[in-house]
Amino acid sequence: MVPQWIIEKKRDGAEIGPEELREFISAYSQGDLPDYQMAAFAMAVYFKGMSFEEVSVMTDAMMRSGRTLDWSSLGKPTADKHSTGGIGDKISIPLAPLAASCGCAVPMISGRGLGITGGTLDKLESIPGYSTSLSPEKFRGVLEKTGCSIIGQTDDLAPADKKLYALRDVTGTVPSIPLIASSIMSKKLAEGTGSLVLDVKCGRGAFMKTRDEAKTLARTMIAIGKSMGRRVSALITDMNEPLGKTIGNTVEIEESIRILHGEGPDDVRNLTLELAAEMLTLSGAAASREEAVSALEKSIASGRAADTFARMIEAHGGDPRIVSRPGLMPRGRFTADVPSPRSGFVAGIDADAAGRIVLLLGGGRRKVTDSIDHGVGIEQLVQRGEKISEGEPLMRIIASTAEDAQHFVSEAARIVSLCDEPPPERRIILDRIAQ
Ligand code: URA
Repeated sequence: MVPQWIIEKKRDGAEIGPEELREFISAYSQGDLPDYQMAAFAMAVYFKGMSFEEVSVMTDAMMRSGRTLDWSSLGKPTADKHSTGGIGDKISIPLAPLAASCGCAVPMISGRGLGITGGTLDKLESIPGYSTSLSPEKFRGVLEKTGCSIIGQTDDLAPADKKLYALRDVTGTVPSIPLIASSIMSKKLAEGTGSLVLDVKCGRGAFMKTRDEAKTLARTMIAIGKSMGRRVSALITDMNEPLGKTIGNTVEIEESIRILHGEGPDDVRNLTLELAAEMLTLSGAAASREEAVSALEKSIASGRAADTFARMIEAHGGDPRIVSRPGLMPRGRFTADVPSPRSGFVAGIDADAAGRIVLLLGGGRRKVTDSIDHGVGIEQLVQRGEKISEGEPLMRIIASTAEDAQHFVSEAARIVSLCDEPPPERRIILDRIAQ
């Protein structure tokens, strides 16, 4: 294999043969191909795209660059969910215990936030003692004991993707459908889940800005999963506005707990239930959507879903008391309410800008090595359609200093747009795509 010939081929829009592509990925993952050649290749893919055959081979090669997990001995169907990421997207946190409490095992490998989108692992680390890095053996033990476990990507799981993702992040090559599809699917296939539900976000606060791009990405990932014998389906969901009434780390765990107690905002509750129902039906743990929704609602009402969350936290070394006493999590000492400049209806909230404020408060990272402040964020955020009077709060800012709390008040007021008539209702779930 001569790497520059492969790069030139892709640059000129030709198709790379499967053996050449496998060798290329394998050389990169073993350190025999330098970053500059892989970066040039990623940029060529960004501009010229890939055939489905190429995306499949690339996914398979990245999946095989490390260990693959096998859950067949669990004696239960396995299902996972992957979201392409958005502002206020805490769905994985109530979803994993909820689905697990209704009969499927959920081995979930999640990521950290980078930039303005928060990460499930960072949110979970608001729980005192919760460890997100477990050995594969411990991961299996937690899954056997509680039915669900949420951990971070280990070094030996799809290491070629780990290396390539970090490179793409700094070379302007993240928003490419073949590269995103192969990156996500290589990790999910290595994780060994039998069924996978994708939550592909589109809109201002997402990688995919349009519904059509989101559908193309979803169809590509579904086809990859199918070609490897997995059951995959996708919901295309709106990410023009944040999900729920909280953005941050502790505050999003608090909202997740409310969902498990049958409370919390409708958008988060409905999306959690829809994704959980999809996981149960896809994996065969429920015979129909109706049966799944009924089982999920019963699990919430009986307290079983919340109890499963507490047991998962405890198995990860965390303090399970937070499920009934969320005040045990860190919280910034200073708050500032953001008054509405006028009366009216909430027409929309700029998800991007909301994410930026939380990042600047210290709740997100500017670079991978930054540490984050779990206690800061936004809560009591108004949602589209709410009626509000002048001077009433649009949201509450939680900060670790009095200066920070005050500093963002006027900027925060600008991210909410108001109108005189009730706006059209927000549709969260835009499409469902099945195999
Ligand atoms: N998430 C991933 O894991 N990979 C991508 O390329 C984009 C989002």
